[in-house]
Amino acid sequence: MTLLSLEKVDVFYGDLQATFGVDLRLDAGEAIALIGANGAGKSTLLRAIMGMTAARRGAVMFDGQDITRLRCDLIARRGIAIVPEGRRLFSSLSVEENLLMGGARARPGPWTLDTVFDLFPAMREFRHHNAAELSGGQQQMVAIGRALLTNPRVLLCDELSLGLAPKVVGEIYACFAGIRDKGVSIILVEQDVVRARSASSRLYCLLKGRVTLEGASSSVTLDDISHAYFGDRRS
Ligand SMILES: Nc1ncnc2c1ncn2[C@@H]1O[C@H](COP(=O)(O)OP(=O)(O)O)[C@@H](O)[C@H]1O
Ligand SMILES: [Mg+2]
Repeated sequence: MTLLSLEKVDVFYGDLQATFGVDLRLDAGEAIALIGANGAGKSTLLRAIMGMTAARRGAVMFDGQDITRLRCDLIARRGIAIVPEGRRLFSSLSVEENLLMGGARARPGPWTLDTVFDLFPAMREFRHHNAAELSGGQQQMVAIGRALLTNPRVLLCDELSLGLAPKVVGEIYACFAGIRDKGVSIILVEQDVVRARSASSRLYCLLKGRVTLEGASSSVTLDDISHAYFGDRRS
């Protein structure tokens, strides 16, 4: 069943058109990946879904309803949450205070401080630390926890691996199974193509605001991806 879809979405920043007729689909229970070079429009699409930069043309449909021009907080209430690029924690607040920001007006659901700590057991130990004292990987876990505490049906993740060591990225990605077990569907923006492929059932590649490849992650080859990613038409 389609849970979320983009239909011919054009997003603009002033006069600059950032995406061109993007069609995209997320089924219930699915994890899909959105890949593409810097500036391809990945974050822009997540922002359009979340209502942070509304699409000028086209539609964002969620659970059968048009949410294209709904306010961000109302979209969150309906069950979409974002882990933003750069994590954006409140650095002067503790881990627990940051997490509770997500829970302040949460929907009912399985995610509580306890279930987030079960997902990231190490977080229990540093729950009273200031966010500024954390490593990048720990901050990323808190940003994910904060989004989960809104009890979303769809989790949008923007470049979770940015600036993190491979071992830490592995630990972060290991939490996905636990998140999906609780019925959360995921859209993953990722520049690490290998990681994106292994963590998703389908993937989309964007190039300069256009979808250049869509397919099952297990069947698209690195060669297909390379062409779609760089726009290189040589065979
Ligand atoms: N706030 C903004 N104002 C103006 N242009 C922007 C803004 N954010 C992004 N852009 C432009 O939109 C395009 C897509 O950016 P973005 O979605 O951030 O790409 P990605 O996340 O794939 O790196 C780029 O050309 C970028 O320069
Ligand atoms: Mg981005």
